[in-house]
Amino acid sequence: MSKPLTIADLKILARRRVPKMFFDYADSGAWTEGTYRANEEDYSRIKLRQRVLVDMTNRTLETTMIGEKAAMPVALAPTGMTGMQHADGEMLAAKAAEEFGVPFTLSTMSICSIEDVASVTTKPFWFQLYVMKDRGFVERLIGRAKAAKCSALVVTADLQILGQRHKDLRNGLAAPPKPTLNAALQLVTRPRWCLEMLQTKRRGFGNIVGHASNVSDLSSLGAWTAEQFDPRLSWDDIRWIKDLWGGKMIIKGILDEEDARAAADTGADAIIVSNHGGRQLDGAPSSISMLPKIVEAVGDRIEVHVDGGIRSGQDVLKAVALGARGTYIGRPFLYGLGALGKEGVTTTLEIIRKELDITMALCGKRDIQHIDRNILANMPF
Ligand code: FNR
Repeated sequence: MSKPLTIADLKILARRRVPKMFFDYADSGAWTEGTYRANEEDYSRIKLRQRVLVDMTNRTLETTMIGEKAAMPVALAPTGMTGMQHADGEMLAAKAAEEFGVPFTLSTMSICSIEDVASVTTKPFWFQLYVMKDRGFVERLIGRAKAAKCSALVVTADLQILGQRHKDLRNGLAAPPKPTLNAALQLVTRPRWCLEMLQTKRRGFGNIVGHASNVSDLSSLGAWTAEQFDPRLSWDDIRWIKDLWGGKMIIKGILDEEDARAAADTGADAIIVSNHGGRQLDGAPSSISMLPKIVEAVGDRIEVHVDGGIRSGQDVLKAVALGARGTYIGRPFLYGLGALGKEGVTTTLEIIRKELDITMALCGKRDIQHIDRNILANMPF
């Protein structure tokens, strides 16, 4: 393939380069994948107003998310095991985001640790927190994020219990990993990926192995992770985290107006309207379809961001038009990373920027900060 022009192109390249079990891990959703599909498809139900003969020169996509400058209203979403799409994946993606000028969010379940990412970046990144049952571990993790000068804590609220993805189960991508003939075949057919993995030391979960008590290797990690997500997590815990952290906080995984009001009551700086990319509650509505109601409910009290299903700059523009101050991409940057490493993440961001810029111009607008519902030809939600 010549130079990738779309996120779909990067997906094709990633599928060729990344072993099936890890490509599927990124590409899959819970159960029937209905919510995962709806996240993408609902964007195409929103139509844009074509405007002509207005001045389209001197356009700008610059904005802020929680007061931080961003080259465009797009951040990289926290994604677990990013370092399995490409060796040192989180470090590469963080550097690409930093150079491009958009926020990078490191997952608790990353392969590279907070300290690894801090060692290759010069500007603060964001850290995503899963509030595990072991609150001592959570306290230490927050301490490490502070020491690394992370500028925002993204607390994920929609994973008290792990959703199920059939592809992962069928691929044997369980914790601990099961060594099967099928898995071995998947690896030997991706020799370049294997070679790169052999050259890096970072293969476990860098934030956990050696930091959580009794987790010293992959199998103890598997057992630990399986029982550490906390079904009792409550709004009191969110307030406890907020006090402990003391800095900017974003609550991720809000899909309901009542929950949005409760989130705003905590005094957090932003919420992310999200269904975890369709990986948790299959059957939940798409995140873009819930965005207008949530903006209506709390948009005057808290910044509202959105993720799930964004595959182009057009989708970003539609989300902004419906009231999102910022958006996040998960799979699109994972495809870029899997396809071409750091350069692929940059390509992902470039593709989205170009599409966003051209679309904004053709809607007759020059400044992303002036985008509102006026640019929409319909309101399906
Ligand atoms: C995720 N997501 C996620 N969210 C989170 O808070 N912590 C995490 O560790 C992960 N891990 C993760 C792994 C993978 C492979 C994916 C695809 C997603 C959810 C993620 O932050 C985001 O909500 C979705 O990815 C957004 O949907 P799109 O852009 O992937 O469609």
